[in-house]
Amino acid sequence: MKITTKINLLTTAWMICILILINFVVYFLFMKTTVNMEEDILFQKASDILEGIHTNQSSNDTEGIFKKYLSEYSYIRIMEPGNKILHEVTNDELLSKKIKGKFTIEKLSQTHLISAEHGEEEVLVVHVPIYSGNNVIGSLEIGERLLGLETRKEILRGILIFCTLLAALLSLLGGKWLANMIMRPISNMINTMEEIEKSGVPKSISIQNRTKDELQTMALTFNRMINRLQENLEKQSQFVSDASHELKTPLTIIKSYANFLRRHGLDNKDMANEAIQSIHSEATRIQKMTETFLELATLEKENVLEMNEVNLVNLCKSILKQLKDVYRRDITLQFNEYPIIIKADELKIKQVIVILLDNAIKYSSDRIEVFLEKHEKQAIIRVIDYGIGIPQGEIENTFERFYRVDKARSRETGGSGLGLHIAKSIMKLHKGEIKITSKEGVGTEVRLFFPV
Ligand SMILES: Nc1ncnc2c1ncn2[C@@H]1O[C@H](COP(=O)(O)OP(=O)(O)OP(=O)(O)O)[C@@H](O)[C@H]1O
Ligand SMILES: [Mg+2]
Repeated sequence: MKITTKINLLTTAWMICILILINFVVYFLFMKTTVNMEEDILFQKASDILEGIHTNQSSNDTEGIFKKYLSEYSYIRIMEPGNKILHEVTNDELLSKKIKGKFTIEKLSQTHLISAEHGEEEVLVVHVPIYSGNNVIGSLEIGERLLGLETRKEILRGILIFCTLLAALLSLLGGKWLANMIMRPISNMINTMEEIEKSGVPKSISIQNRTKDELQTMALTFNRMINRLQENLEKQSQFVSDASHELKTPLTIIKSYANFLRRHGLDNKDMANEAIQSIHSEATRIQKMTETFLELATLEKENVLEMNEVNLVNLCKSILKQLKDVYRRDITLQFNEYPIIIKADELKIKQVIVILLDNAIKYSSDRIEVFLEKHEKQAIIRVIDYGIGIPQGEIENTFERFYRVDKARSRETGGSGLGLHIAKSIMKLHKGEIKITSKEGVGTEVRLFFPV
């Protein structure tokens, strides 16, 4: 069953339940107040009759007084102790036959149901004691069929049933309209999802009315998700094309040297040696590059960091020691505080520092300086070299994937243009920043900012 139909039926059923309950309350309250009013009238009549009898005691015309007060379908009686009828005036034989008289010593009203000519009918009987001095010598009893009440009951029942049915109908129609209105964005979303499923192309849904409700939030979230997906897809395809482009050059070199060897064999020893050397170095380059690709892929896929307390001073000391041993370069370390502790993924931070030092080593030949600074809200790592520098307009580009300022030179140094891109991604994961200031021919300073 459709969710709109479900909502509609449920709300209508609930509404009918509430209406039935309200109808019962209205019906019974109406009945009660009407009978109470009739009761008051009869009691008033009884006291009027008693007063009449009292003032006309001498004339002894009780019958005349009774007749004066006798209304349609009723009787008036005087009862003696022992439930004997002393006097009775009636214009409704059936009624006076069905209702047995009753002597009471106090005011009392009762309703009875009698089976009359047209089915059951309600009868109201009131009893009022007659006093002589302080003694009760009899009671006056007035009985009357509540004919008007029956008709009013029927009208009321009709009105209530009609109103309930009308309300149910309106609720069904209104519910359908409301459910459709609520479900429209969801239906839109379902349609878009189906389209995406069929075509395989992510697409956002159009939001017509800015309703600022949960459904709009849902649609906006969906659109954001789709945008992310689109971005990722674009990134992915860009990466694939960039990567294959990068692999093309070394592969072409390998292929041409291999061709040379196939044609000339090892006849020319020098040339053959050069060919083998080049094939080896290009193959190594491809191997390194694919390793970096894999690294980048995992970095973009799993954004989980293993956060621990890291002492930057100790970390830099150990990295510098390793690099100094391998490259035999003059790298100095200075820090303004010990220890400098930050919360970070140690392996990833190490990777960033190595990327920066690797660049400094590759693109300079002078000394390299590393400064560690601890401030109130952040820790800063500065890597400074006095090498070739980066032209002003190129600095931001160096963070792009596969971007190298001097392609020819990079070929010599063996870079793939991914280092700074990886460093920036890692800094972003740490909610930190990376900034480069550089002057061509003078040197480069790269700063890493970590929130403390
Ligand atoms: N310290 C530096 N001095 C001068 N140029 C630099 C420096 N660091 C980076 N660059 C320039 O920025 C480019 C991008 O650097 P990046 O580290 O991303 O790539 P790469 O060093 O070429 O290759 P790899 O992927 O091996 O790191 C470099 O090719 C180089 O032109
Ligand atoms: Mg690099």
